[in-house]
Amino acid sequence: MLEPLVLPTPEALAEHAAAAIEAAMRRSPRGLFCLAAGDTPRATYERLVFRLKRSQAELSGLRFIALDEWQGLAPDSPGGCQSFLRETIIGPLGIAEANVVFFDALGDPGTACREVADRRRAWGPITLAVLGIGRNGHLGFNEPGTLAESTVRLVVLDSTTKRVGAKYFPDGRAPRLGLTLGLADLLTADEVLVLASGEAKRGIVRRALDPSSFPEVPAAVLHRHRHATLLADRAAFGAE
Ligand code: GLP
Repeated sequence: MLEPLVLPTPEALAEHAAAAIEAAMRRSPRGLFCLAAGDTPRATYERLVFRLKRSQAELSGLRFIALDEWQGLAPDSPGGCQSFLRETIIGPLGIAEANVVFFDALGDPGTACREVADRRRAWGPITLAVLGIGRNGHLGFNEPGTLAESTVRLVVLDSTTKRVGAKYFPDGRAPRLGLTLGLADLLTADEVLVLASGEAKRGIVRRALDPSSFPEVPAAVLHRHRHATLLADRAAFGAE
C-alpha cells in the first residue's frame, strides 16, 4: 500500500520527513540509504543534517546509493543529482567516499549501471528510499509506462521530465537521457518515503494514490510495497 500522510505546511513536511530519516538511520547505523535529488527534499535534508549533528549520531557505517542521474553530466555539474546530494548531505555529514556510489554519467552507461547494480546487491537491501514524484508520476527516472520489473538502466527521458527538469540547469536545457534505479530495485527497499510539496503536484498525487493508474503513473507501483508512505503537504494533497 502507498499510505498518504498529510502535513499542513512544507515546513511540517520537511520536519516530519527529517525525523523519519533520522530514526531509520539510528535504527540501522549500517543501513543503505537512497535519496532523491530535486527541489522537494532540500528543506528535509537541511533539517536532517541539523538533527544528526545536534545528536552527534554515529554516521560512519551509513551507506548511500544514487537514485538517478542525468546522462552526460560531470560529478560536480550544477543541476546534477550527484552534485546536489554532495552539497546537501554527503558533504555536510562528512560521509566517506568508500560509503557512497553514484552513477558515472560521463562514462559508458552500461558500465555505470553495472557498477550501481553490483553495489546495490553487495550493500543492499536498501533500508530507506526517499523519493520525489515527478509531474508525470515518475520515481527517479522511471517514466510513465515503466515495468514493475525494471532494474538499473539508461532511459530516454519523457518530454515532461525534460521540460520541468530545465529548472535545474543554468542554461535551461535538460539532457535527453537519464540513468536510474529501476522500480524493482525500489520495491525491494525495506521502506519507501515519497515527498510531495506544492500545488503543482496535486493532480499527480491524487493519481498516484489510485493503484490502477500504474503503469501510466509509475509512483502507483508503490501500492505493491509493504511499507510505502506518501508524505504530502496540504497544497500537494488538496483540501479535504
Ligand atoms: C526529477 C528527478 C527525481 C525527482 C523528481 C521531482 O526529475 N529525476 O528524482 O524526485 O524529478 O523533482 P522536484 O522535487 O524538483 O519536483
